[in-house]
Amino acid sequence: MRTCPSHNLTDLVANLREFSEYMEAAIERRRREPGEDLISALLQANEELLNPADLITFTRLLLVAGNETTTNLLGNGLVALLRHPSEWERLQQDASLVPNAIEEMLRYDSPVQAILRVTTQDTEVAGHPLAKGTRVMLLLGAANRDPRRFPGPDHFDVTRDPQGHVSFGHGIHFCLGAPLARLEVKVVLEELLQRVHRLSFAPGQEDSIDWGGNFILRGPRHLRLHAERR
Ligand code: HEM
Repeated sequence: MRTCPSHNLTDLVANLREFSEYMEAAIERRRREPGEDLISALLQANEELLNPADLITFTRLLLVAGNETTTNLLGNGLVALLRHPSEWERLQQDASLVPNAIEEMLRYDSPVQAILRVTTQDTEVAGHPLAKGTRVMLLLGAANRDPRRFPGPDHFDVTRDPQGHVSFGHGIHFCLGAPLARLEVKVVLEELLQRVHRLSFAPGQEDSIDWGGNFILRGPRHLRLHAERR
């Protein structure tokens, strides 16, 4: 592992440049030969709305915002289900609970643990004054375990009413990809429930999950599972 900050910064700049070049080429290909993909659709949007530089930034945002987050929802959700076998059994008995279970997975172990903001005016939160221009970190994972909103918040229950969780953020920046993320995980869970009779951690996995050490994005780096087919 590299620890020198200047190395990390150099790597970061090089990676960003490489990514932009990759995206520029992908966008150029779609410009020549439009398909039924998202980049082609964005290219057809008004150029004033999304100029070429915006387009690269937007594709980068979509890729980053939509990738690890959804992977983490699936990883965190499976860990929660495997640690609570009664909840997995409930889903096996009634797959119509899957959409609600996904909301509970989002609440119980939030894939995005925190978001950042800068106050635009002097304000106060829970009696603490915050001057204009203060940087604040909003702990979504903690809000999702607030006992004033969710009774018994540390209890994972696929039938609970999880409405009001903030895993996709709140307000005008509410996650653009929430319906896609929900759909992806619904498809995976429904397929698993149909095909797999018993699902468990592979030997030694449960006690050695590598959570990656990322404070903002939480999810297992790898998850070795054992599945018995139906
Ligand atoms: C479980 C999966 C996901 C989680 C937990 C998640 C979480 C979030 C959160 C918390 C925000 C708010 C950020 C803020 O207010 O600072 C956000 C915004 C956003 N998300 Fe997601 N996201 C997920 C999946 C996706 C997917 C699949 C896409 C796209 C393919 C996506 C695209 C975006 C975009 C573009 C924004 C910015 C919206 C804006 O600023 O107006 N996300 N997401």
